[in-house]
Amino acid sequence: MELPNLKNAKRRTDAEVKVLTNEYIMNAHLESLGKGKKYFVKTYGCQMNEHDGENIKAILEDMSFTETDNMEDADIILLNTCAIRENAHNKVFGYLGRIKHLKESRPDIIAGICGCMAQEEVVVKEIMSKHKYLDMVFGTHNIHELPEILDKVIETKSQQISVYSKEGDIIENIPVKRESLYKAWVNIMYGCDKFCTYCIVPYTRGKQRSRRHEDILAEVKCLKEQGYKEVTLLGQNVNAYGKDLNDNYNMENLLEDVAKVGIDRVRFVTSHPWDFTDSMIDVIAKYDNIMPYIHLPLQSGSSRILKLMGRRYTKESYLELAHKIKDKIPNCSLTTDIIVGFPGETEEDFNETMDVVNELKYDSAFTFIFSPRVGTPAENMTDDVDLKTKEERLHKLNELVNKYAHDANLKYQDKIVPVLLEGVSEKNSEYLMGYTDTMKLVNVKAPKDLIGEIVNVKITSVKTWSMDGEIAK
Ligand code: 5AD
Ligand code: SF4
Repeated sequence: MELPNLKNAKRRTDAEVKVLTNEYIMNAHLESLGKGKKYFVKTYGCQMNEHDGENIKAILEDMSFTETDNMEDADIILLNTCAIRENAHNKVFGYLGRIKHLKESRPDIIAGICGCMAQEEVVVKEIMSKHKYLDMVFGTHNIHELPEILDKVIETKSQQISVYSKEGDIIENIPVKRESLYKAWVNIMYGCDKFCTYCIVPYTRGKQRSRRHEDILAEVKCLKEQGYKEVTLLGQNVNAYGKDLNDNYNMENLLEDVAKVGIDRVRFVTSHPWDFTDSMIDVIAKYDNIMPYIHLPLQSGSSRILKLMGRRYTKESYLELAHKIKDKIPNCSLTTDIIVGFPGETEEDFNETMDVVNELKYDSAFTFIFSPRVGTPAENMTDDVDLKTKEERLHKLNELVNKYAHDANLKYQDKIVPVLLEGVSEKNSEYLMGYTDTMKLVNVKAPKDLIGEIVNVKITSVKTWSMDGEIAK
């Protein structure tokens, strides 16, 4: 039994990060454990978590389990969770009711939770006291130990909790079952050291650890050889890539080298304005296969609130950076994240956020009401904005964001743009869906044999969050 510990999760030392290439092992007796059995993995949260989900699935398949998308059919159920806001928590705890119910009629089912919530001391305490029917809990640092943990569950028939609150290593040999044949996530770094005062991530994912660029490039080359058209470089704070390695190789070098591999589309998320350099912008502008799409979280337009958030930039410096990006990268789409109702946010502070949105006219934005997270500094700040005001601000902000999202899409009307067609549209099976280089969702009337291709599409109509199009003649 290894329980998460908030104090340890907060700690940062200069201990060397180990790159482990043989850490994931599959004992012969576990290879056929899942023969004839099915697994169901449900992932919440960000792209990083999605990618962890792809690792978890591959490990289960190494043990001969096969996937089902119907939980009722599964022999093993895993919720790969997110901790970023209270509502992410609530969704998971709500879902646990269904699992409990299912286990009452089929006690042989093995069910567990993993991911970011598993890293939280408060969550694990609650699981141990109120959710004893769960068989296992493991965290973000030990996905590779899933076979052993499962083995122990079967052997001991007792709840296994195995969560490490540590700075973390880099484990290079975890298998992956990619969701798509055309676009792939590639981790370039793990963890975060920014400690924005509202954010749980530095506690759930450990310290900033950049992967060796040789390993990243080898993965991208391999993906290209397999026919992948797009890679998205993943990290909590990708612009800080390499800062922890001291090898004089940073994000602009990596972006350039990844672009040179020649894969059609290179994307990256998420950027922090603090580490975004001019030369990085130049590299993005220089290579046609680095997509003109930048997600640049603002969080607040008030320099006073930004300071309380520990964001390390001001409204003015953010605006300067955003304008530089827009000037240097033609046709760049810019999106953002914004939190309203941070402790102490006044009407004036909120109006400054609205001012930034009005000035930059984002292509889209994810907007949130502040949610206090246990153990973060903001949890203890006086939250003096009442819920009704928070909701009103969110509503007002969303109206503005939607207006600019629609305006941005209107510019595409009748234009011909490249779209990577990914699959059949959920709304209409005669349409395929895909994204433009600028990350706009397009539904295209096209034959299925074009799935996986980047095609020129003429935009025939636009809505706020998607567009329709046809193959350009
Ligand atoms: N409350 C509300 N929103 C949050 N985010 C992160 N932490 C919190 C929190 N405690 C938002 C930020 C971040 C996005 C992923 O989630 O906007 O960029
Ligand atoms: Fe959620 Fe953050 Fe964890 Fe991603 S890293 S799953 S956003 S808490």
